[in-house]
Amino acid sequence: MSIYDSPRFHVIDHPLVQHKLSILRDKHTSSKTFRALVTELAVLEGYEALRDLPLEDVQVETPLEMTTAKRIVGKKLAVVPIMRAGEGMVNGILTLVPSARVGHVGMYRDEETHLPVPYYLKFPRHIEERTCLIVDPMLATGGSLTAAIHFLRETGVKDIRCLTIVSCPEGVEAVLNYDSEIELYTCTVDRQLDENAYIHPGLGDAGDRIYGTK
Ligand code: PRP
Ligand code: URA
Repeated sequence: MSIYDSPRFHVIDHPLVQHKLSILRDKHTSSKTFRALVTELAVLEGYEALRDLPLEDVQVETPLEMTTAKRIVGKKLAVVPIMRAGEGMVNGILTLVPSARVGHVGMYRDEETHLPVPYYLKFPRHIEERTCLIVDPMLATGGSLTAAIHFLRETGVKDIRCLTIVSCPEGVEAVLNYDSEIELYTCTVDRQLDENAYIHPGLGDAGDRIYGTK
């Protein structure tokens, strides 16, 4: 069985997702549009990643009669962006779950080794009781995402779901092999990594495109 057949791996091939992704890839897309699309894709991915949230029956009085309706059972969530680019996805998740807490993992890739260098960690209290959505638009070597998973597991978090927008085979394999419980969502698995660990065809440097830093 290929790793791509894993029930823990989800490629979101919805037409709206694929349409928005095509605009994201375009080098002529402005930072303003790029940011908006990253937020919209986070909403669509978050919707998929949270489709198993448990529901309970509640009694509701409509203007016409009492009825039984469904509400999410007090499930607590946290969204954990990998800075910087992951922050672009936070508001999309908060649109879906406004009460979610936000933790941060600050990391950048060393330009020579391509290994992640952590520089900041801040998690909400009792994060171990929450379902955590790690968000980062790019999954390249997998070094950054596996490090973020490691930090959350170290604090005792059990339910972790990772949301990326563009992935490549190397990164998907690294993450699924690193943690046997992880759920991984992405919008595409691109062809390959180059010698600088950039994804091809990809969309370039997500952080630079979100923040206009290049
Ligand atoms: C990018 C991206 C991921 C990481 C992916 O961040 O947002 O965090 O690279 O690469 P990996 O899978 O090989 O670890 P970058 O280090 O460029 O930092 P930035 O978000 O501050 O631009
Ligand atoms: N990080 C990015 O922003 N883009 C890539 O292609 C790889 C890592």
